[in-house]
Amino acid sequence: MKIEADNNCIVIFGASGDLTHRKLIPALYHLYKIGRLTEHFSVLGVARSNFDDETFREKMRQALIQCEEATGETLDAFCQHLYYQSINTFEAEDYAKLIPRLTALHQQYETEGNTLYYLSTPPSLYGVIPECLAAHGLNTEEQGWKRLIVEKPFGYDIETARALDIQIHRFFEEHQIYRIDHYLGKETVQNLLVLRFSNGLFEPLWNRNFIDYVEITGAESIGVEDRGGYYDGSGAMRDMFQNHLLQVLAMVAMEPPAIINADSMRDEVAKVLHCLHPLKADELENHLVLGQYTASVIDGEEVKGYLQEKGVPADSTTETYMAVRCEIDNWRWAGVPFYVRTGKRLPARVTEIVIHFKTTPHPVFSQKAPENKLIIRIQPDESISMRFGLKKPGAGFEAKEVSMDFRYADLASPSLLTAYERLLLDAMKGDATLFARTDAVHACWQFVQPILDYKAERSRIYEYEAGTWGPSEADKLIAKQGRVWRKPSGFMKKKV
Ligand code: BG6
Repeated sequence: MKIEADNNCIVIFGASGDLTHRKLIPALYHLYKIGRLTEHFSVLGVARSNFDDETFREKMRQALIQCEEATGETLDAFCQHLYYQSINTFEAEDYAKLIPRLTALHQQYETEGNTLYYLSTPPSLYGVIPECLAAHGLNTEEQGWKRLIVEKPFGYDIETARALDIQIHRFFEEHQIYRIDHYLGKETVQNLLVLRFSNGLFEPLWNRNFIDYVEITGAESIGVEDRGGYYDGSGAMRDMFQNHLLQVLAMVAMEPPAIINADSMRDEVAKVLHCLHPLKADELENHLVLGQYTASVIDGEEVKGYLQEKGVPADSTTETYMAVRCEIDNWRWAGVPFYVRTGKRLPARVTEIVIHFKTTPHPVFSQKAPENKLIIRIQPDESISMRFGLKKPGAGFEAKEVSMDFRYADLASPSLLTAYERLLLDAMKGDATLFARTDAVHACWQFVQPILDYKAERSRIYEYEAGTWGPSEADKLIAKQGRVWRKPSGFMKKKV
């Protein structure tokens, strides 16, 4: 498979926004620096702000210097590929201004008409931009490919997700649409597939006969920062669970694809998401806990509660924490609970999966044996740790939990790609394997919709102090089956 991007022009809608200078431009810069983007590319920033090419270049240069410590010739050369066009993105007629710009750029960079449109705009424009592009024939693939990257949120609920899909499909075909979920771009999420499907060791144990339950944690230590306005309309359920964590769950639970390519991978992902057991209101009573952080002092510093954050209404009932018990209705997983939790202002930033294996069928030793578990840490400090019991040295047969650890950094090469780099590069190569397909997105919404309905009508929000592991009700949720959440700690020390 080729490792470089196709020659192309990347059109970023929402070019004056945060994502462009924080993630997209740094990702493109790094790809350029390591030679994965050839000289045959250009970036056309598009937004309402009245910049010219030079102003845009200067802004991006400053952003790169700040976050990349980029200097010198490579930075200068990269910035020469940046251009800007101001348009009113709600006005179809204004898109005519893109035609001469794109024609000139395709000619100058010999990009054969290949165009990647990146929608880094407020979601209200996700339906509008494809229609306006189509009004000027900018969606057709007669001269070069045309691809559309759509940022999350892909819909606000099942209805809006369906409507958006219909709207975009009127102008772009599914093979042109790349729905980005940056969790799928993370090396260690992909490593999960390799761990499962390139080893004969794990797969025979990866089912209801040997696995007792699975925990998935997406914890963040930060609060909502300056995104209170957005977050309050979203909450943990839409912000993290509906997309990122359900995608991670699918990677843990999917069947082995026959081959790793966009179709077979995404067939299996969609299949397992369709098997999620739909949670009814009476089940949610016992299987869902929502929380909201309150003010506290962390490491001697006062930390605001959610209701005091900028942009958050003082009476908001939006959840900043959620824990839910899910089940998968298929042969592999029947009866195995998947406990998933996520929250802001928890004690650490950590994403991990814990596979808890069943205990031995008969106790040979008088003392209870340590649990067998596989801990897959997605971030930070990416690692895999196998925990099991061994004999404590000395008299008797006392077992002690020991650990076999692997740190992903020991394999890492200096050219390891970040999530946005990997995904942008894949889109420019036409590889949609790590992008969410429409059926998978719908399956996620289908599972989440009853939870959203329940949340709106009946649920309670429990408070938790910032810097703690969420409301105590979440401990009770898992304790009902005699289990406890793992408190991620003991981050492995870096080898020196
Ligand atoms: C984003 C959410 O999609 O993912 C943020 O909108 C969240 O609220 C972020 O902080 C988490 O991503 P990561 O890569 O830092 O785990």
